[in-house]
Amino acid sequence: MNRNIVYVFTGTGNSLKVAKDIAAALGDCDIVSMGSDTQYEAAGGHETIGFVLPTYYRGEPGKVAEFIGNLNLEHNKNAYYYTVVTAGKYDGNTLCHIKKLLKRKGITLNYGKMLDMFSNYVVSYDMRDTVKEETKKSEIDFEPILKSIKNRESNQIPGIELLQEIAYRALIPLIPEMDKYYSVSDDCIKCGICEKVCPVGNIGLDDTGRPYFNHHCEQCMACIQFCPKRSINYKDRTQNRRRYTHPDIKYTDLAMLNGKVDPKIVFGSKPFSPDKKKSGSSIVAKLMAKAIWKIYGL
Ligand SMILES: Cc1cc2nc3c(=O)[nH]c(=O)nc-3n(C[C@H](O)[C@H](O)[C@H](O)COP(=O)(O)O)c2cc1C
Ligand code: SF4
Ligand code: SF4
Repeated sequence: MNRNIVYVFTGTGNSLKVAKDIAAALGDCDIVSMGSDTQYEAAGGHETIGFVLPTYYRGEPGKVAEFIGNLNLEHNKNAYYYTVVTAGKYDGNTLCHIKKLLKRKGITLNYGKMLDMFSNYVVSYDMRDTVKEETKKSEIDFEPILKSIKNRESNQIPGIELLQEIAYRALIPLIPEMDKYYSVSDDCIKCGICEKVCPVGNIGLDDTGRPYFNHHCEQCMACIQFCPKRSINYKDRTQNRRRYTHPDIKYTDLAMLNGKVDPKIVFGSKPFSPDKKKSGSSIVAKLMAKAIWKIYGL
Protein backbone atom coordinates (compact mmCIF):
# COMPACT_ATOMS: atom_id res chain seq x y z
CA MET A 1 0.00 0.00 0.00
CA ASN A 2 1.24 3.49 -0.85
CA ARG A 3 1.48 6.25 1.78
CA ASN A 4 -0.64 8.64 -0.29
CA ILE A 5 -3.82 8.27 -2.29
CA VAL A 6 -5.57 10.67 -4.62
CA TYR A 7 -9.13 10.01 -5.75
CA VAL A 8 -9.99 11.58 -9.09
CA PHE A 9 -12.98 12.13 -11.36
CA THR A 10 -12.35 13.41 -14.87
CA GLY A 11 -13.93 13.72 -18.30
CA THR A 12 -11.49 15.62 -20.47
CA GLY A 13 -8.36 15.10 -18.40
CA ASN A 14 -7.94 18.42 -16.54
CA SER A 15 -8.50 16.82 -13.14
CA LEU A 16 -6.41 13.77 -14.06
CA LYS A 17 -3.52 16.05 -15.02
CA VAL A 18 -3.76 17.73 -11.59
CA ALA A 19 -4.01 14.35 -9.82
CA LYS A 20 -0.97 13.05 -11.70
CA ASP A 21 1.08 16.14 -10.83
CA ILE A 22 0.14 15.82 -7.15
CA ALA A 23 1.00 12.10 -7.19
CA ALA A 24 4.39 12.81 -8.78
CA ALA A 25 5.15 15.57 -6.25
CA LEU A 26 4.14 13.54 -3.18
CA GLY A 27 5.61 10.26 -4.41
CA ASP A 28 4.44 6.83 -3.26
CA CYS A 29 0.89 7.69 -4.36
CA ASP A 30 -2.02 5.73 -5.85
CA ILE A 31 -4.50 7.37 -8.22
CA VAL A 32 -8.00 5.87 -8.00
CA SER A 33 -11.08 6.73 -10.08
CA MET A 34 -14.17 8.01 -8.25
CA GLY A 35 -16.21 6.58 -11.15
CA SER A 36 -15.52 3.18 -9.63
CA ASP A 37 -18.10 1.13 -7.75
CA THR A 38 -15.48 -1.28 -6.47
CA GLN A 39 -12.95 0.87 -4.63
CA TYR A 40 -14.88 2.04 -1.59
CA GLU A 41 -12.56 0.42 0.95
CA ALA A 42 -9.51 2.57 1.72
CA ALA A 43 -6.83 0.56 3.49
CA GLY A 44 -5.64 2.20 6.73
CA GLY A 45 -2.43 4.13 7.25
CA HIS A 46 -2.53 6.71 4.46
CA GLU A 47 -0.68 9.92 5.31
CA THR A 48 -2.52 12.08 2.77
CA ILE A 49 -5.86 11.58 1.02
CA GLY A 50 -6.89 13.87 -1.83
CA PHE A 51 -10.00 14.39 -3.97
CA VAL A 52 -9.56 16.01 -7.39
CA LEU A 53 -12.68 16.68 -9.45
CA PRO A 54 -14.35 19.07 -11.87
CA THR A 55 -17.21 21.44 -11.01
CA TYR A 56 -20.55 20.58 -12.65
CA TYR A 57 -23.20 23.29 -12.32
CA ARG A 58 -21.34 24.83 -9.38
CA GLY A 59 -21.17 21.58 -7.45
CA GLU A 60 -19.54 18.14 -7.60
CA PRO A 61 -20.52 15.48 -10.17
CA GLY A 62 -23.29 13.25 -8.77
CA LYS A 63 -21.00 10.24 -8.94
CA VAL A 64 -18.42 11.99 -6.75
CA ALA A 65 -21.00 12.62 -4.02
CA GLU A 66 -22.02 8.95 -4.26
CA PHE A 67 -18.41 7.78 -4.16
CA ILE A 68 -17.35 9.85 -1.15
CA GLY A 69 -20.61 8.92 0.59
CA ASN A 70 -19.76 5.22 0.20
CA LEU A 71 -16.04 5.51 0.86
CA ASN A 72 -14.91 3.83 4.07
CA LEU A 73 -12.34 6.09 5.73
CA GLU A 74 -12.64 4.59 9.21
CA HIS A 75 -8.98 3.57 9.25
CA ASN A 76 -7.71 6.94 8.03
CA LYS A 77 -9.05 9.42 10.55
CA ASN A 78 -5.62 11.01 11.07
CA ALA A 79 -4.65 11.53 7.44
CA TYR A 80 -4.21 15.00 5.88
CA TYR A 81 -7.27 15.62 3.66
CA TYR A 82 -7.33 18.02 0.72
CA THR A 83 -9.36 18.69 -2.40
CA VAL A 84 -8.64 20.47 -5.69
CA VAL A 85 -11.68 21.44 -7.77
CA THR A 86 -10.98 22.22 -11.42
CA ALA A 87 -13.46 24.64 -12.99
CA GLY A 88 -13.96 26.94 -15.96
CA LYS A 89 -14.14 29.82 -13.52
CA TYR A 90 -17.00 29.37 -11.06
CA ASP A 91 -16.82 26.45 -8.67
CA GLY A 92 -19.76 27.73 -6.59
CA ASN A 93 -20.37 25.45 -3.63
CA THR A 94 -18.19 22.52 -4.66
CA LEU A 95 -15.51 22.94 -1.99
CA CYS A 96 -18.11 23.33 0.72
CA HIS A 97 -19.96 20.21 -0.51
CA ILE A 98 -16.77 18.12 -0.27
CA LYS A 99 -16.15 19.49 3.21
CA LYS A 100 -19.68 18.49 4.27
CA LEU A 101 -19.47 15.02 2.70
CA LEU A 102 -16.30 14.36 4.73
CA LYS A 103 -17.70 15.95 7.88
CA ARG A 104 -20.51 13.37 7.86
CA LYS A 105 -17.76 10.78 8.28
CA GLY A 106 -16.20 12.70 11.16
CA ILE A 107 -13.36 13.93 8.96
CA THR A 108 -12.05 17.48 8.61
CA LEU A 109 -11.14 18.74 5.16
CA ASN A 110 -7.81 20.42 5.89
CA TYR A 111 -7.31 22.22 2.60
CA GLY A 112 -9.38 22.98 -0.50
CA LYS A 113 -8.79 25.15 -3.59
CA MET A 114 -10.40 25.81 -6.92
CA LEU A 115 -8.10 25.77 -9.95
CA ASP A 116 -9.19 27.70 -13.02
CA MET A 117 -8.73 25.43 -16.06
CA PHE A 118 -10.03 25.15 -19.62
CA SER A 119 -13.83 25.09 -19.71
CA ASN A 120 -14.94 21.90 -21.45
CA TYR A 121 -18.76 21.92 -21.57
CA VAL A 122 -19.15 21.79 -25.37
CA VAL A 123 -22.91 21.18 -25.01
CA SER A 124 -23.37 24.83 -23.95
CA TYR A 125 -20.62 26.70 -25.83
CA ASP A 126 -17.85 26.30 -28.42
CA MET A 127 -14.35 25.37 -27.25
CA ARG A 128 -12.03 28.37 -27.22
CA ASP A 129 -8.91 28.31 -29.41
CA THR A 130 -6.68 29.44 -26.54
CA VAL A 131 -5.84 25.99 -25.17
CA LYS A 132 -2.09 26.61 -25.08
CA GLU A 133 -2.32 29.93 -23.23
CA GLU A 134 -4.95 28.71 -20.77
CA THR A 135 -3.04 25.50 -20.04
CA LYS A 136 0.09 27.50 -19.29
CA LYS A 137 -1.85 29.82 -16.96
CA SER A 138 -3.36 26.86 -15.11
CA GLU A 139 0.09 25.39 -14.61
CA ILE A 140 1.29 28.64 -13.05
CA ASP A 141 -1.83 28.96 -10.85
CA PHE A 142 -1.37 25.37 -9.72
CA GLU A 143 2.15 25.89 -8.33
CA PRO A 144 1.14 27.50 -4.98
CA ILE A 145 -1.67 24.94 -4.55
CA LEU A 146 0.77 22.07 -4.98
CA LYS A 147 3.17 23.71 -2.55
CA SER A 148 0.42 24.06 0.06
CA ILE A 149 -0.52 20.40 -0.30
CA LYS A 150 3.10 19.29 0.00
CA ASN A 151 3.46 21.42 3.14
CA ARG A 152 0.14 20.08 4.48
CA GLU A 153 -1.28 23.53 4.98
CA SER A 154 -4.85 24.25 6.12
CA ASN A 155 -7.22 26.92 4.90
CA GLN A 156 -10.76 28.21 5.33
CA ILE A 157 -13.37 26.63 3.03
CA PRO A 158 -16.06 29.10 1.82
CA GLY A 159 -19.68 28.60 2.92
CA ILE A 160 -22.77 27.78 0.83
CA GLU A 161 -24.24 30.35 -1.60
CA LEU A 162 -28.00 29.82 -1.66
CA LEU A 163 -28.89 30.62 -5.30
CA GLN A 164 -26.09 28.44 -6.65
CA GLU A 165 -27.26 25.69 -4.34
CA ILE A 166 -30.84 25.87 -5.66
CA ALA A 167 -29.64 25.70 -9.27
CA TYR A 168 -27.32 22.77 -8.54
CA ARG A 169 -29.95 20.77 -6.65
CA ALA A 170 -32.47 21.35 -9.45
CA LEU A 171 -30.16 20.32 -12.28
CA ILE A 172 -28.16 17.44 -10.90
CA PRO A 173 -31.05 14.89 -10.88
CA LEU A 174 -31.64 15.52 -14.61
CA ILE A 175 -28.09 14.75 -15.68
CA PRO A 176 -28.11 10.92 -15.81
CA GLU A 177 -30.73 10.86 -18.60
CA MET A 178 -29.31 13.70 -20.68
CA ASP A 179 -27.61 11.07 -22.83
CA LYS A 180 -31.01 10.50 -24.48
CA TYR A 181 -30.12 13.62 -26.51
CA TYR A 182 -26.85 12.04 -27.74
CA SER A 183 -26.59 10.70 -31.27
CA VAL A 184 -23.94 8.65 -33.05
CA SER A 185 -23.38 9.54 -36.70
CA ASP A 186 -22.53 7.19 -39.55
CA ASP A 187 -18.94 8.46 -39.39
CA CYS A 188 -18.41 6.17 -36.38
CA ILE A 189 -15.58 3.73 -37.10
CA LYS A 190 -16.45 1.50 -34.11
CA CYS A 191 -13.07 2.01 -32.47
CA GLY A 192 -14.49 1.67 -28.93
CA ILE A 193 -12.63 4.69 -27.53
CA CYS A 194 -15.84 6.24 -26.19
CA GLU A 195 -16.60 3.10 -24.17
CA LYS A 196 -13.10 3.12 -22.64
CA VAL A 197 -12.99 6.79 -21.65
CA CYS A 198 -16.41 6.83 -19.99
CA PRO A 199 -15.62 7.06 -16.26
CA VAL A 200 -18.88 5.43 -15.14
CA GLY A 201 -19.34 2.60 -17.64
CA ASN A 202 -22.36 4.32 -19.22
CA ILE A 203 -21.47 3.27 -22.77
CA GLY A 204 -22.03 -0.19 -24.21
CA LEU A 205 -21.08 -1.44 -27.67
CA ASP A 206 -23.63 -3.44 -29.66
CA ASP A 207 -22.79 -6.56 -31.70
CA THR A 208 -21.46 -4.41 -34.52
CA GLY A 209 -19.29 -2.28 -32.18
CA ARG A 210 -21.55 0.75 -32.30
CA PRO A 211 -21.96 2.63 -28.99
CA TYR A 212 -25.19 3.05 -27.05
CA PHE A 213 -25.88 4.92 -23.81
CA ASN A 214 -27.29 3.49 -20.62
CA HIS A 215 -28.82 6.56 -18.92
CA HIS A 216 -26.54 6.87 -15.94
CA CYS A 217 -24.47 9.54 -17.67
CA GLU A 218 -22.49 12.15 -15.72
CA GLN A 219 -22.22 14.61 -18.67
CA CYS A 220 -18.43 14.50 -18.32
CA MET A 221 -18.00 15.09 -22.09
CA ALA A 222 -15.26 12.44 -22.45
CA CYS A 223 -17.08 10.51 -25.20
CA ILE A 224 -17.98 13.61 -27.22
CA GLN A 225 -14.54 15.18 -26.83
CA PHE A 226 -12.34 12.10 -27.35
CA CYS A 227 -14.24 10.54 -30.32
CA PRO A 228 -11.70 10.67 -33.18
CA LYS A 229 -14.47 11.05 -35.79
CA ARG A 230 -16.58 13.60 -33.86
CA SER A 231 -19.42 11.12 -34.26
CA ILE A 232 -21.06 11.70 -30.89
CA ASN A 233 -23.14 14.83 -30.62
CA TYR A 234 -25.67 16.48 -28.32
CA LYS A 235 -28.91 17.43 -30.12
CA ASP A 236 -27.83 19.67 -33.02
CA ARG A 237 -25.55 21.77 -30.81
CA THR A 238 -22.10 20.29 -31.02
CA GLN A 239 -21.61 19.23 -34.66
CA ASN A 240 -19.79 22.42 -35.62
CA ARG A 241 -18.08 23.11 -32.32
CA ARG A 242 -14.39 22.48 -31.68
CA ARG A 243 -13.29 19.67 -29.39
CA TYR A 244 -11.05 19.88 -26.30
CA THR A 245 -9.07 17.38 -24.25
CA HIS A 246 -6.17 18.28 -21.94
CA PRO A 247 -2.99 18.37 -24.11
CA ASP A 248 -1.03 16.12 -21.72
CA ILE A 249 -3.75 13.49 -21.29
CA LYS A 250 -4.38 10.83 -23.91
CA TYR A 251 -7.43 8.58 -24.18
CA THR A 252 -5.23 5.69 -23.07
CA ASP A 253 -4.64 7.50 -19.72
CA LEU A 254 -8.38 7.54 -19.13
CA ALA A 255 -8.75 3.94 -20.31
CA MET A 256 -6.07 2.98 -17.79
CA LEU A 257 -7.75 4.94 -14.99
CA ASN A 258 -11.07 3.28 -15.84
CA GLY A 259 -9.48 -0.18 -15.85
CA LYS A 260 -10.30 -0.60 -19.54
CA VAL A 261 -6.86 -1.30 -20.93
CA ASP A 262 -7.44 -5.01 -20.99
CA PRO A 263 -10.95 -5.48 -22.48
CA LYS A 264 -11.53 -8.38 -20.11
CA ILE A 265 -11.17 -6.10 -17.08
CA VAL A 266 -14.20 -3.92 -16.37
CA PHE A 267 -13.76 -1.60 -13.38
CA GLY A 268 -15.81 1.50 -12.77
CA SER A 269 -18.80 0.24 -14.66
CA LYS A 270 -22.29 -0.26 -13.41
CA PRO A 271 -24.68 -2.74 -15.01
CA PHE A 272 -27.57 -1.09 -16.82
CA SER A 273 -30.63 -1.11 -14.62
CA PRO A 274 -33.84 -0.34 -16.54
CA ASP A 275 -35.76 -0.15 -13.26
CA LYS A 276 -33.58 2.62 -11.83
CA LYS A 277 -35.85 5.09 -10.03
CA LYS A 278 -35.85 8.72 -11.11
CA SER A 279 -35.16 11.36 -8.49
CA GLY A 280 -36.44 14.95 -8.22
CA SER A 281 -40.04 13.98 -8.81
CA SER A 282 -42.14 16.84 -7.39
CA ILE A 283 -43.85 19.05 -9.95
CA VAL A 284 -42.37 22.23 -8.44
CA ALA A 285 -38.88 20.76 -8.58
CA LYS A 286 -39.42 19.76 -12.22
CA LEU A 287 -40.70 23.21 -13.22
CA MET A 288 -37.82 24.88 -11.44
CA ALA A 289 -35.34 22.56 -13.08
CA LYS A 290 -36.84 23.34 -16.51
CA ALA A 291 -36.44 27.08 -15.92
CA ILE A 292 -32.83 26.72 -14.79
CA TRP A 293 -32.25 24.33 -17.69
CA LYS A 294 -33.27 27.09 -20.09
CA ILE A 295 -31.04 29.63 -18.35
CA TYR A 296 -28.09 27.29 -18.86
CA GLY A 297 -29.11 26.94 -22.53
CA LEU A 298 -29.54 23.15 -22.46
C1 LIG B 1 -21.61 19.16 -17.02
C2 LIG B 1 -20.60 20.24 -16.82
C3 LIG B 1 -20.91 21.33 -16.03
C4 LIG B 1 -19.94 22.32 -15.79
N1 LIG B 1 -20.27 23.35 -14.95
C5 LIG B 1 -19.32 24.28 -14.66
C6 LIG B 1 -19.61 25.33 -13.73
O1 LIG B 1 -20.69 25.39 -13.14
N2 LIG B 1 -18.63 26.26 -13.49
C7 LIG B 1 -17.41 26.22 -14.11
O2 LIG B 1 -16.57 27.07 -13.85
N3 LIG B 1 -17.08 25.20 -14.98
C8 LIG B 1 -18.02 24.25 -15.26
N4 LIG B 1 -17.71 23.22 -16.14
C9 LIG B 1 -16.32 23.15 -16.70
C10 LIG B 1 -15.46 22.12 -15.96
O3 LIG B 1 -15.66 22.19 -14.56
C11 LIG B 1 -13.96 22.28 -16.25
O4 LIG B 1 -13.70 22.39 -17.58
C12 LIG B 1 -13.17 21.13 -15.62
O5 LIG B 1 -11.82 21.50 -15.48
C13 LIG B 1 -13.24 19.85 -16.43
O6 LIG B 1 -12.46 18.87 -15.79
P1 LIG B 1 -12.08 17.46 -16.44
O7 LIG B 1 -11.28 17.75 -17.69
O8 LIG B 1 -11.27 16.78 -15.41
O9 LIG B 1 -13.35 16.74 -16.75
C14 LIG B 1 -18.66 22.24 -16.40
C15 LIG B 1 -18.36 21.14 -17.22
C16 LIG B 1 -19.31 20.16 -17.43
C17 LIG B 1 -18.95 18.99 -18.29
S1 SF4 C 1 -15.23 6.85 -30.21
FE1 SF4 C 1 -16.45 7.63 -31.93
S2 SF4 C 1 -15.76 6.44 -33.68
FE2 SF4 C 1 -15.08 5.33 -31.87
S3 SF4 C 1 -16.76 3.87 -31.41
FE3 SF4 C 1 -17.16 5.72 -30.21
S4 SF4 C 1 -18.54 6.93 -31.54
FE4 SF4 C 1 -17.57 5.41 -32.84
S1 SF4 D 1 -21.67 8.70 -21.64
FE1 SF4 D 1 -20.16 10.22 -22.30
S2 SF4 D 1 -20.70 12.12 -21.22
FE2 SF4 D 1 -21.81 10.43 -20.23
S3 SF4 D 1 -20.49 9.82 -18.51
FE3 SF4 D 1 -19.95 8.51 -20.23
S4 SF4 D 1 -18.28 9.53 -21.30
FE4 SF4 D 1 -19.22 11.02 -19.91
